[in-house]
Amino acid sequence: MNGKHGLKVDHHYIFGKMIELIKDTIQRYHNLFSTNPEYLVIAPGRVNLIGEHTDYNLGYVLPVAIDRNVIIAAGNRHDDMLNLHTVDLQASISTSLSNLTNDTAALWSNYPMGVAYILRKKGYRLHGANLCIRGNIPIGAGLSSSAALEVGSAIAFNNLNGLNLSLIDLIKISHEAETDFVGVHCGIMDQFIAIMGKHRHALLLDCQSLKYDYILCPTGVKLVVCDTGVRRELARSAYNKRQEECNEAVRQIAKEFRDISSLREVTSEQLETVKKKLSAIQYKRAKHVITENGRVLKGVDALRECNLPVFGSLMLESHLSLRDYYEVSCRELNVFVEVAMKSESVYGARMTGAGFGGSAICLVAEDAVDSLVDLLRSEYPKRAGRSLTMYLASTGDGAAIINPKVSLIPKIIAESS
Ligand code: GLA
Repeated sequence: MNGKHGLKVDHHYIFGKMIELIKDTIQRYHNLFSTNPEYLVIAPGRVNLIGEHTDYNLGYVLPVAIDRNVIIAAGNRHDDMLNLHTVDLQASISTSLSNLTNDTAALWSNYPMGVAYILRKKGYRLHGANLCIRGNIPIGAGLSSSAALEVGSAIAFNNLNGLNLSLIDLIKISHEAETDFVGVHCGIMDQFIAIMGKHRHALLLDCQSLKYDYILCPTGVKLVVCDTGVRRELARSAYNKRQEECNEAVRQIAKEFRDISSLREVTSEQLETVKKKLSAIQYKRAKHVITENGRVLKGVDALRECNLPVFGSLMLESHLSLRDYYEVSCRELNVFVEVAMKSESVYGARMTGAGFGGSAICLVAEDAVDSLVDLLRSEYPKRAGRSLTMYLASTGDGAAIINPKVSLIPKIIAESS
């Protein structure tokens, strides 16, 4: 069933998996603003199976949307105030739409504010709005809770103001909120999968053309996500630095090969030809991106053939390249990969997302999940000196919207009040 502007409305999924959180979000909206929300939006987190730090180099990525979501209950106001409340962080912000500035003391609020800012910058007129936000994507774990919040906010503003934006517009606006308002010069992967994700499928995205394809996930295998709990203060500046280093490498390579405008276009042979003209750092960054793009395409072939051993070894190669060439891994992520790879039932393991801490994933035979969890519980803390939060990820759908006026939501309010 399609909602306004083609967004999926899957009541079975929403009511089956998220019912308690949804009910609670609506109830809290009601308590805060003394009225019912007009819209309810859910947007998923993601795990990237392979293709890391390739998106802003206009290469390939292969993420899946997961069954963890941000939920936003939203309603219009008659003034120009934007009232934001986060249930999970127990914080509120109230600001005029005509005075949106980056708030370093309430980072969470920058995602919805950033989207409103970009919409206004593009000339869209917005009413004031109330947004009550909650979710179950671990924050800062590299599972893209921020993109889910941006995309969810974009969908909420789109519907509240009848903007009729297309899915691709919503993706691009959410992405611009991150680069131009939040200040992380990221690629488009996270916002893209948060909208376009499809249950049981990975999404192959060409970040240059924005063409995409769904790849069916094989059965008999599980994706275990492990949050190392490591959060790096400097992750944002280190991320932006990597992007700068890639841009510098492109500038150098283009002196020799004039048509080149992104690392996506550089072949391994070209890189070796110009190696002497690049700094060691530029060479290593480019080497990772070029080989990683190749791994994504090989990985897609492997998934299509249900060849898990090949896909798993590409995951491991990706991790080693991120560790040695892109230098965004950390001790805890490396320990996780080393321990997980000891299990004969694990096909592959790697860090996922930007790195510098956050989460790692591994692909394991379905019947060996318990023994893997036991292995990690006994080995990881001894070697890493800290515990690990593990969970079994299921794939999920992209963002969905419900109009509470025409759905079952008012009944929930009636039941719970
Ligand atoms: C973060 C960014 C993405 C991507 C990944 C690394 O999640 O938001 O755009 O660059 O890091 O692959």
